[in-house]
Amino acid sequence: DAIAYGLDAPYAVDYHDRLPSTNDRARELAVEGAADVLVVAGEQTGGRGRLDRTWNSPSGGVYASLLVRPDRPPAHAPIFTLAAAVAVTRACREAGVDAVIKWPNDVLVAGSERKLAGILTEMEGEADRISWLIVGIGANVDVAAADLPETATSVREAGGDADRRRFCQRIVETFHDLRLDPDDVLPAWREYAVTLGRAVRVETPGGVVEGEAVDVAFPGALVVRTDDGERTVHAGDCEHLRPA
Ligand code: BTN
Repeated sequence: DAIAYGLDAPYAVDYHDRLPSTNDRARELAVEGAADVLVVAGEQTGGRGRLDRTWNSPSGGVYASLLVRPDRPPAHAPIFTLAAAVAVTRACREAGVDAVIKWPNDVLVAGSERKLAGILTEMEGEADRISWLIVGIGANVDVAAADLPETATSVREAGGDADRRRFCQRIVETFHDLRLDPDDVLPAWREYAVTLGRAVRVETPGGVVEGEAVDVAFPGALVVRTDDGERTVHAGDCEHLRPA
């Protein structure tokens, strides 16, 4: 139980040295009817990222998926992702790394903008209620540069405390403390965001939106000021156009 041993979590912990994907394992548990389980793996052989990308998952990272069954409408799902991004960012900062959030959920090192962590939220819902929701967090903690893509870095490489168990514990605590209350999550997210005030180009399912990112709105949308007025973007791939 390398990472999960002694983890003090308000969830059942399902630890594996190696899994194809903690999100996939959590989905199996969801189908079996489980709830409030935190799946943790020491490494993944088939880690998945957003937008059908793969997630490089060598040993030394933190790979964790939380399965919950919240009594909320499906439209609230993005608040879980934002809360997880805040939790991971805070864990990085407590480990001594100056981390920031790029909308919606990338955790980067301030300045270099190399990626430390990402979040993949998956859900099944009925019309008015989430049936199950999985928040999957992948964080490069105790990973060497050689095991990472060019655009990424790790807590260790950035000079931080690379204790994975402590890192995982901090994520769980912050996530829980935020209570998924938008009044807690959104201000914390704004405080850590590097996207707000920046010129952005967002590829959305409905086309490209370019302008200045001015705010985040419940449940997790990016508000972009464009030449044609404000646009609220609910999902997409965001690029910062100029350095901060
Ligand atoms: C992204 O930035 O594209 C999101 C990456 C999410 C990766 C995590 S690792 C734990 C969980 N299991 C997966 O297969 N993916 C998520």
